[in-house]
Amino acid sequence: MEQECAVFTLILLCLIIEMIQGDTVTQPSNPTLVKETENTSIHCKYDLTSGSTPVLFWYIQDPNQAPQLILNEYSKEEDIPPRFRNRFSASHTNAEKTFHLNITAAVLSDSATYFCALRPTL
Ligand SMILES: *[C@@H]1O[C@H](CO)[C@@H](O)[C@H](O)[C@H]1NC(C)=O
Ligand SMILES: *[C@@H]1O[C@H](CO)[C@@H](O)[C@H](O)[C@H]1NC(C)=O
Repeated sequence: MEQECAVFTLILLCLIIEMIQGDTVTQPSNPTLVKETENTSIHCKYDLTSGSTPVLFWYIQDPNQAPQLILNEYSKEEDIPPRFRNRFSASHTNAEKTFHLNITAAVLSDSATYFCALRPTL
């Protein structure tokens, strides 16, 4: 008899938000599908017309919850909430204007909407 294997698929949605003086620019991307225990990366590429280098943030929004900060580009490991610590990382690549979020060993509760946000520096 064949063994049944339940595989949970997480759905990660990414929105990029540009926070400029109350103006918000949102670009939804296609959902990322990932299975439990897999590693994945959620891509964030921003387009900022001004020459300044922004500060970048990743937020998570669980269903029916307010968005919660995961990390920003300066977060130390101990600043990251325990739920994400040591599994979530991102590094800002200025030249490519990217801030991809890496997730190691995905768990079902990672299934959520993710926001990449930027705050321009003056
Ligand atoms: C996921 O990433 C971790 C940490 O970088 C690594 O040890 C592990 O082998 C990776 N797993 C897969 C399936 O690539
Ligand atoms: C994210 O994953 C990519 C591909 O595995 C790797 O090249 C990159 O260094 C990782 N970034 C971080 C911040 O861990």
